[in-house]
Amino acid sequence: MRKIIIDTDTGSDDAVAILMALRDPSVQVLALTTVCGNVSLEQATINALRSVKEARTYAPPVYKGAYHPLVRTTRNATQAHGDDGMSGLGTLPEGMQAETEHAVEAMLRLVKENPGEVEIVAIGPATNVALAMMKDPETMKQVKHIYSMGSGGFGPGNVTSVAEFNVFVDAEAYKIMVEFPVPVTIVGFDICRAEGACFSEAEMTEMKKDGPVSKFAMDCTAALVDYNELKHGKREIDLADPFAMGAALWPDTVAEAPACCCLVCAETGMTYGQVVVSENRYAGADAEKLGDWAVNATVVKRMDNALFKKKLRETLKTQ
Ligand code: RIB
Ligand code: CA
Repeated sequence: MRKIIIDTDTGSDDAVAILMALRDPSVQVLALTTVCGNVSLEQATINALRSVKEARTYAPPVYKGAYHPLVRTTRNATQAHGDDGMSGLGTLPEGMQAETEHAVEAMLRLVKENPGEVEIVAIGPATNVALAMMKDPETMKQVKHIYSMGSGGFGPGNVTSVAEFNVFVDAEAYKIMVEFPVPVTIVGFDICRAEGACFSEAEMTEMKKDGPVSKFAMDCTAALVDYNELKHGKREIDLADPFAMGAALWPDTVAEAPACCCLVCAETGMTYGQVVVSENRYAGADAEKLGDWAVNATVVKRMDNALFKKKLRETLKTQ
């Protein structure tokens, strides 16, 4: 069985990704590690515990990680997800709490205990992952694969015209993660905004009929509807993290994902947080000659949105 760690800044779309993983029988979620991003570390941890409860399967341990990016000041995305990051549903479940072990220590311990088996699904800023890599690189080289929701992919940013939120919060950390010698698959923000990828209010209404887990998924993401009406003129939700989780859980939903060279811009200025994605036609023998332009990531270019939505609905459905 696949073993995954979910590193999350639990906002509403993270919550749906957590529900997916906890309800997919093909993976064992070893742990959730929380990081500041959409909301504060404290609130992200409460939201992670709430998501575990609402998945109605099993309760992996939740470990608190970085309360602050490596260098930059903190930001949040409450304008999109609501003040608590969960459209008002971000409350601590009775009798649940985070572990006392720090997320970075827990991540390193779990990788040591499961050498070559752990896959990390990173759906928030990469601060925890980068800290683990800096603290104990030999252990982190035993991570099997990293799936990252980050960058605009082959499209624009969503914070600036070039920077996507997870990278913009901590580009220094993202650079460390992408350049680290562990296979990484990147799902950019372009994927959840592609034709047929967003969920309309009608689709949300239909999903709510599938039972309490589906209803929670649609209720906790409700704030995104008003936000997207303001930003894109459409009343819909764009589920970036669930698409990244879908690419990790369900490879058959990935329609196109070329080998690429990704250069992360972490210098102060207009390009901070940009990830320059170069689809690398030189992969293989010539890659060595390319130096900085050698392949360092797989970047999802297209998903089968109909299949993804079908699998998502089936996974969350309880009645
Ligand atoms: O840009 C979208 C990403 O930033 C998602 O992971 C969302 O949850 C926020 O963390
Ligand atoms: Ca997230």
